[in-house]
Amino acid sequence: MAKFFYITTPIYYVNDKPHIGHAYTTVACDVLARFRRLQGLDVFFLTGTDEHGKKIQKAAEENLADPKSYVDRFARIFQDAWLALNISNDDFIRTTQDRHYKAVAKFWQIVKNNGDIYKGKYSGWYCVPCETFFSDEQLVNGKCPDCGREVEWMEEESYFFRLSKYTQPLLDLYNDKKNFVMPDFRRNEVIQFVSQGLKDLSISRSKFSWGIKVPDDPKHVIYVWFDALLNYLTAAGFAEDEERFKRIWPADVHVVGKEIVRFHAIIWPAMLMSANLPLPKMVFGHGWWTMEGEKMSKSKGNVVDIWALSKEVGVDPMRYFLMKAVPFGQDGDFSYKNLKEILNSDLANDFGNLLNRTASMIERYNNSMLTEADKFFDGENYVKLRAIFDGMKERIEKYYDNLSFSFVLEEIMTLVKGANKFLDETAPWRCFKENGFNTQVASAFYHVFEVIRLCAIALYPFMPSISSDVLKRLSVKDNPSWSEFEWGLLPLPCRIEKGEPIFKRLEN
Ligand code: MSP
Repeated sequence: MAKFFYITTPIYYVNDKPHIGHAYTTVACDVLARFRRLQGLDVFFLTGTDEHGKKIQKAAEENLADPKSYVDRFARIFQDAWLALNISNDDFIRTTQDRHYKAVAKFWQIVKNNGDIYKGKYSGWYCVPCETFFSDEQLVNGKCPDCGREVEWMEEESYFFRLSKYTQPLLDLYNDKKNFVMPDFRRNEVIQFVSQGLKDLSISRSKFSWGIKVPDDPKHVIYVWFDALLNYLTAAGFAEDEERFKRIWPADVHVVGKEIVRFHAIIWPAMLMSANLPLPKMVFGHGWWTMEGEKMSKSKGNVVDIWALSKEVGVDPMRYFLMKAVPFGQDGDFSYKNLKEILNSDLANDFGNLLNRTASMIERYNNSMLTEADKFFDGENYVKLRAIFDGMKERIEKYYDNLSFSFVLEEIMTLVKGANKFLDETAPWRCFKENGFNTQVASAFYHVFEVIRLCAIALYPFMPSISSDVLKRLSVKDNPSWSEFEWGLLPLPCRIEKGEPIFKRLEN
């Protein structure tokens, strides 16, 4: 049986439609999910929507809608967005689904039976946009330390989760499993936070109603984060299918934005420890996009719209840009200048042009047929080109293990550049002029098409449609596998379809 790989995005709040930040997390997960499928793993890729809490209730009220029809509408919008961006999720969880209510009730009962839930009184501050509790000392100038907005005072009866009990077990976890929180600087932040000691966490609210009711105490609804984190268990079959759950859980990686690492790397493993369930293998915190140097926000009107952008540059190039522009884990700034530069240089000039010019030469020289080549022709230029490829497979695999997507793309572009150079230096057009289409000419082209094939396979997780199109033009199967990422597998003779240029250059 193939090895299982379970990957998740955060589940998104449905108080607004998705923007480039949501797309970023989702595309990154899609790339990793697709790569693991290429490798032959049995992948379960989960995304979904977080539909409870005060923030959603408020948004629904402001729109004069009842919460359920409001969340239904927005959940649909998220699903459509992911369809449009060619996201290959295997499931879409909504926290208002029946399966989730069952899972939350079951989990609550287990943790309660283990003595980790008790009733008390909460007083402190609450940030509604962040759905987060803060103590006096944590506020910055009286405002939310995370988003800078107003917080509200809360004083109510509440259930608590004994988070404090897990301070030491969590520190042991970070120490034993060095990859549990990635990248390293996030891990250090988490360790520093937990080292100060954890306080018990309020996990119910009684002053509003849009949430999952506490079992046996319906005056209370469960704190939205306690409910939301459990989506990862629900979708694995926690309350409905024990066999499936055993096969799927634990998750291999939860990919999340940096601002919610705390929930995933502290509260979540503590909840699982309390329920005696296996822990996820990795929580990866990625950085944030700003827009031309400023924080994106609806009020500033500078939020990058994914529909407009993908229409402008194409879905696959947009996915490429998001993964190439910034090393995953770091913050990045979105600018149209940068977008244009990266897409024109990498895709239109380097990769697109390589395919275009070689395919047109083959069309002219030999009726689009690549024949009789020496696959390992031993010229000096070939040796240089092969040197770039050697070890590339292992390097790419390692980058994927660390979610270093931009480095994967760097590797691919280095090979593309190498092939362009190879072509310029070998100049098969000269030999063709003198001797016609012979083995030597064919061999030079062979190496270039071999690079194009290899790059199309490696680019497949990032740009699935365009990569398939390229593979089709080389007359090889368009749903590749990672085992085909070996030099010399382009079969001969081979028909090369020139077609229209695969990338258009972006003008201003
Ligand atoms: N509902 C919670 C997650 C619960 S998971 C059990 C939540 N939702 S969210 O809709 O606010 O955000 C989800 C993701 O979008 C986060 O990973 C966040 O980092 C990402 N982004 C939102 N804006 C972003 C940018 N401007 N840049 C990059 N990613 C950002 O939090």
